[in-house]
Amino acid sequence: MRRTETNRVRISYGEPPPVPVWFCAKYLKVSKRTQIWKLVFKISHRSPRGASPNCSVSPPLSLCCELLVRKEREKGERFHPLIGTLQQNQEMALSESEFGMKGSSIIREWSGQVQPALIISFIFLFCLEACLWIRNLALKKRLPGPFAWPLVGNAMQLGQMPHITFSRLAKKYGNVYQIRLGSNDIVVLNGHTAIRQALIQHSTEFAGRPNFISFQIISGGKSMTFGSYSEQWKAHRRVAQSTLRAFSSANSQTKKAFEQHIVAEAMDMVQNFLRLSADRCYFNPSHEFTVAAANVICALCFGKRYGHDDPEFRALLGRVDKFGETVGAGSLVDVMPWLQSFPNPVRSVYQNFKTINKEFFAYVKDKVVQHRDTFDPDVTRDMSDAIISVIEHGKNNMLSKDFVEGTVTDLIGAGQDTVSTIMQWMLLLLVKYPAMQTKLQEQIDKVVGRDRLPSMEDKINMAYLDAFIYETMRYTSFVPVTIPHSTTTDVTIEGFHIPKDTVVFINQWSVNHDPQKWQDPHIFNPSRFLDENGALNKDLTSSVMIFSTGKRRCIGDQIAKTEIFLFLAILLHQCTFKSNPSQTLTMDCSYGLVLKPVKFSVTAKLRGRLLGFVSPA
Ligand code: HEM
Repeated sequence: MRRTETNRVRISYGEPPPVPVWFCAKYLKVSKRTQIWKLVFKISHRSPRGASPNCSVSPPLSLCCELLVRKEREKGERFHPLIGTLQQNQEMALSESEFGMKGSSIIREWSGQVQPALIISFIFLFCLEACLWIRNLALKKRLPGPFAWPLVGNAMQLGQMPHITFSRLAKKYGNVYQIRLGSNDIVVLNGHTAIRQALIQHSTEFAGRPNFISFQIISGGKSMTFGSYSEQWKAHRRVAQSTLRAFSSANSQTKKAFEQHIVAEAMDMVQNFLRLSADRCYFNPSHEFTVAAANVICALCFGKRYGHDDPEFRALLGRVDKFGETVGAGSLVDVMPWLQSFPNPVRSVYQNFKTINKEFFAYVKDKVVQHRDTFDPDVTRDMSDAIISVIEHGKNNMLSKDFVEGTVTDLIGAGQDTVSTIMQWMLLLLVKYPAMQTKLQEQIDKVVGRDRLPSMEDKINMAYLDAFIYETMRYTSFVPVTIPHSTTTDVTIEGFHIPKDTVVFINQWSVNHDPQKWQDPHIFNPSRFLDENGALNKDLTSSVMIFSTGKRRCIGDQIAKTEIFLFLAILLHQCTFKSNPSQTLTMDCSYGLVLKPVKFSVTAKLRGRLLGFVSPA
């Protein structure tokens, strides 16, 4: 294993590939990179060049191997066969210098051989996983579940639509089973009974979020949505929830003001759609829906709409729709950290994700800072002011100042992709089923007439419209699996023991497509929600699961329902939509935290007179 002269003169590409933190953690019995670096210092009696205890990267392979070898020596145990093999490689580097200046140069030389190093790392990790797997079989009573391959687990079996795979696996293994993704054991919960038992009867035990690296960069690291369960998190959620309520439904005045924002946005959308349909053109509505949904939340948060007159914001929103690719259940970014060591599609997705979060957070922070600079305790202009007031000037000192930006970013982020996606699905279904579109318009005309726009007071008389919305939520299940949860403590569910800190996937799709509950679940039929008198069957609508349940239930559900109802009613009151005959309409979609329909185009035609509306913002 001597290096040749040719290897010595190779040009360095940078650092050697890092050892995944989970590996170091498992074998060194430490949990943080900083602790691993500290161990490196301890054994070498000096700092590795260019590294500090606060180093934010994983230590390189060479350093970790040395640590492992020394640790094994100390214990007087036999070397792990693979560590032994790697040691031969590493000893060459270590003999010249123990992590000092020369060591660094050798590390640089070694990094010239990126490919062999990667292959060795890969084989090493594969064997390591195989050993762990065999040990797990012997030690742990596993939950039922499919065979998990070393290193990748069941990642290759998830397919394009993991929620459908999860439901299929539930038929074989039951509603509570275990899969393995990379280094993580994951419990998947399916079906109404198991999910409710977990999220309602054991609400605290299932209220955690996994300690994923991607979750820690969201909303400047101060996200409530992606933060783990704690007393501080409870305070954070209370602030977000009560502020949302105060600005949308606290009393009839706020309700009316909130509705007016939505109506203004809906009418802007109508005008944009008609403009885009001029000369019988077809257009893709997705971006208009994203801007409209973001604008509603921006109006609440900043007292001002930004989207239509701010090209920066429009461009930013165009990229934010990629957010869900990383945080959706089944994403490999967090469960296979070693994929970050070499170019591959997962690494690109993650790089994009980091950029999107940085840009989006910077945009929101800028607006919050403007609010902070002009804050007047006697005048609460909008939600940003309200949040500043509670967090920075209130009695509660559990949340530091930077939680303000985190909260506002969370709300804007959560409020736009979800609402805009359901709007896309509804428009797709309206053009796919034109008879339903006509029936909805007839109901709206009958209840509202042609001289005014629909309002929330009309909702009670529009059961079919409500049924159409619920059926879209059920049929598309466009948030198929919730944001990943984790267990906060050991818990037993349906007789199965689940240890603390286990990642849990909640398959909402399985609840909405359970043939025991829904007749012909694969058929889109809004009438299933109506009783014999044409009234909405509330028992059935409450069985649709799209906002999750329990301690992590969506806090924007009421806001979302108001927005969806008014957007749909106003669009149908003002326009008729038709599909593009040159495109085949499909229900195909892309998977992520939300299921998005593949690009489609429609055209809009004005129904009678365009009603005017003066924007309140
Ligand atoms: C149709 C629209 C929407 C759907 C389907 C939806 C669905 C969801 C789902 C499934 C979750 C994850 C729950 C879990 O992990 O168990 C969630 C969380 C959340 N949603 Fe929504 N949401 C929608 C709209 C909104 C809106 C408009 C807002 C705010 C303005 C919002 C704010 C939040 C927040 C802050 C969380 C995090 C809750 C937590 O982790 O405690 N959502 N939502």
